[in-house]
Amino acid sequence: MLVSAKEMLEKAKAGHYAVGQFNINNLEWTKAILQTAQELNSPVILGVSEGAGKYMAGYKTVVGMVNGMLEELKITVPVALHLDHGGYEACYKCIEAGFSSVMFDGSHYPIEENVEKTKELVKVCAEKGLSLEAEVGSIGGEEDGVVGMGECADPKECKMIADLGVTMLAAGIGNIHGKYPANWQGLSFETLDAIQALTGDMPLVLHGGTGIPADMIKKAINLGVAKINVNTECQLAFAAATREYVEAGKDLQGKGYDPRKLLAPGAEAIKATVKEKMELFGSVGKA
Ligand code: 13P
Repeated sequence: MLVSAKEMLEKAKAGHYAVGQFNINNLEWTKAILQTAQELNSPVILGVSEGAGKYMAGYKTVVGMVNGMLEELKITVPVALHLDHGGYEACYKCIEAGFSSVMFDGSHYPIEENVEKTKELVKVCAEKGLSLEAEVGSIGGEEDGVVGMGECADPKECKMIADLGVTMLAAGIGNIHGKYPANWQGLSFETLDAIQALTGDMPLVLHGGTGIPADMIKKAINLGVAKINVNTECQLAFAAATREYVEAGKDLQGKGYDPRKLLAPGAEAIKATVKEKMELFGSVGKA
């Protein structure tokens, strides 16, 4: 059964580790992530962006697929199904479809409007037992057509949103979705420290997990990050493994064109990436 992300993230924050949110795109992705979490006895959050939800034929299809897998693959570790960077309407659609967690990304609204809409969703999510992630300060780079400027959040605005009763808070600290440019300045630990000082026990969320060096990840966890989002890195690993298979001409040998064979190296590559991240984040054995 899907669970809200509340308990797993509170435990992570108290235990100084982080739970990975891995974005899903299709059946192979979902299965690879769930199997890895189960093998490593780790809690996990499956992230679904609005674009990925549309691609997978709608939120209800996603809920059906994930619930089916939890049962058929006998997954017993805590799993949350989470809307990533949701707009106001998408949040309601996912709540209705059976997601166990949503992110309302109101970072592009003026802070007053972000507060109003977040407040309303806090109430709805509490009634239905879902966890809710809010965002302050847009996260850089492009994700599913949403372009962020990569600003550092204002710690006082973070406190304002945290006090509304959200479950977890994403704050821009110089992080960027996708690959980091060569001249990236790194994470702003000063900002993160100031945010944690004001928000206390609130689990903080680090977006743009792809390509952040291990020492920065560890430092961020020490400063209160309890959820780390990874998307691009699984995509890169999947693409590289698939390219290798095709370039080696394996799709032309025997029944190598069978999608169950063609997509297998990519799925294995996702598993390896997820394992590496769970080990780095410290969530192994914490289910
Ligand atoms: P990356 O694609 O950079 O790993 O970011 C993922 C993310 O933050 C999803 O919200």
